[in-house]
Amino acid sequence: MKSSKVDIFADQIYRHNIFIEKLDLGFSQFFVRTPSGETLCIETGMRGDFPLLKSNLLSAGIDVGSVSSVVVPHFEADEMGALPEFIAHNKNLVTYAHPICAHALADIFSVKTKPLKDEVPININGEQVVPIFVKHVHQWDALVVYLPRFKALFSSDIFMRYGPVEERSGSPVREIVASIENSGYLPSLDHLHDALVKIRKYDIEWIFPMHGPAIHNDAAATIDGLIEYCQKDRHKETVEG
Ligand SMILES: [Fe+2]
Ligand SMILES: [Fe+2]
Repeated sequence: MKSSKVDIFADQIYRHNIFIEKLDLGFSQFFVRTPSGETLCIETGMRGDFPLLKSNLLSAGIDVGSVSSVVVPHFEADEMGALPEFIAHNKNLVTYAHPICAHALADIFSVKTKPLKDEVPININGEQVVPIFVKHVHQWDALVVYLPRFKALFSSDIFMRYGPVEERSGSPVREIVASIENSGYLPSLDHLHDALVKIRKYDIEWIFPMHGPAIHNDAAATIDGLIEYCQKDRHKETVEG
């Protein structure tokens, strides 16, 4: 069973989510209405899910043809699989990614790409976008993006949680740690720790992970809780080793 829906945050951030019951996992794609009136997409979702995404977005008032820029947080099917469909709806579309990922996207899809620079803000359709490289979380070309206008972090696979996308009460840290430990999707807590320390210095009110609920209000506490988890675990490894 698969269910899907669109949620709107701060009037201008549209989250399309597909929840797959068998995996107990949701996949989100984000669409931001930029100051220029165009649409910025962060994560395209899988190619096979594009027809569903297209019709759900249209019901929410977004025509996929208005998507003129796509940020790809790393080269993986749920992050960029539907890119050819987006290109088919807008030939002038530009993709933004880590240099390694940008190179691969240009090679495979013949799409116009712009390589991003670590923590160097870039203006995309009037929207200030800050890419933050988070190497090896969980791929070498991984990045997350911060939008200062919304104090929002689009965190890709960081802060992943199993279960539906609805916000839940209580601290998200325990569920995030359980998701890390159950899935084994992170090769190294050292890399996660370094990424979290980089992320921590931004003024974050919203975290929008690709998998699982958004985090509002307790974003800083969640980041701190995870940093502590990485440090404890490293300490344990050192003592046991
Ligand atoms: Fe991923
Ligand atoms: Fe993912």
